[in-house]
Amino acid sequence: MPVHIKNSDELDKMRVAGKLAAEVLELIEPYIISGVSTEELNQICHNHIVDVQKAIPAPLNYKGFPKSICSSVNHVVCHGIPSENKRLKNGDIVNLDITVIKDGYFGDTSKMFFVGTPTSHAKRLVNICQESLYKAIEIVKPGVRLGDIGNIIQQHAESNYYSVVRDYCGHGIGTEFHEDPQVLHFGRPDTGYELQEGMTFTIEPMLNAGRHHTKLKKDGWTVETVDGRLSAQWEHTLAVTASGVEVLTARSEENF
Ligand code: MF3
Ligand code: CO
Ligand code: CO
Repeated sequence: MPVHIKNSDELDKMRVAGKLAAEVLELIEPYIISGVSTEELNQICHNHIVDVQKAIPAPLNYKGFPKSICSSVNHVVCHGIPSENKRLKNGDIVNLDITVIKDGYFGDTSKMFFVGTPTSHAKRLVNICQESLYKAIEIVKPGVRLGDIGNIIQQHAESNYYSVVRDYCGHGIGTEFHEDPQVLHFGRPDTGYELQEGMTFTIEPMLNAGRHHTKLKKDGWTVETVDGRLSAQWEHTLAVTASGVEVLTARSEENF
């Protein structure tokens, strides 16, 4: 499939969708406390997206996914299914991944939250993962290649003794959830697809404290580390501009 270059009307719609997804991450933060279930978080996000934003939670029924958000706790790498039985406890780290559809366009973003007081090793993993996303965003502009993006993430992760998950990647995004190209979070400089103005895509590195290998649970969705050690992920939806990048899912706590 070709890479779809967005015109300014399409980019306006991507801005709206991106902003709504970011707002869900801002809204949910105060609810992430010890004792809450991931299903309760799912419900709060779902109701806000549907009733307030008049938007669609993209994960719900996507290829059979049963909930409106993904919630991935501790050693869960991604695509965790919210559950009444999964209650957060002090020291947990949790990724909430929000994707909304508004006026036919998708916005996709995720961040890590700490439940109570994090251990120092969990905090370090989460922070290095966020830094790896920010370093990648910083270099985005026309002419940069996807291998440059993958390489900068891999360098930052591995120089800090973490591994980069290979089995899942970022993606083009627009009127579909996952468009071309695939955006790998590892790679070699000066290789791969060349970025052009008007491209919209996600970068969503998953970093593991131990080895990079993942396994899929029998529920068909939940992805875990094989070694049971912690995993972190951060995600933004981006647009390539004439001179650089626009972060379509920026939150007010961020300064791009
Ligand atoms: N939001 C995820 C991504 O970043 C995809 C989730 S698919 C789901 O690409 F079905 F698990 F929701
Ligand atoms: Co994504
Ligand atoms: Co996502």
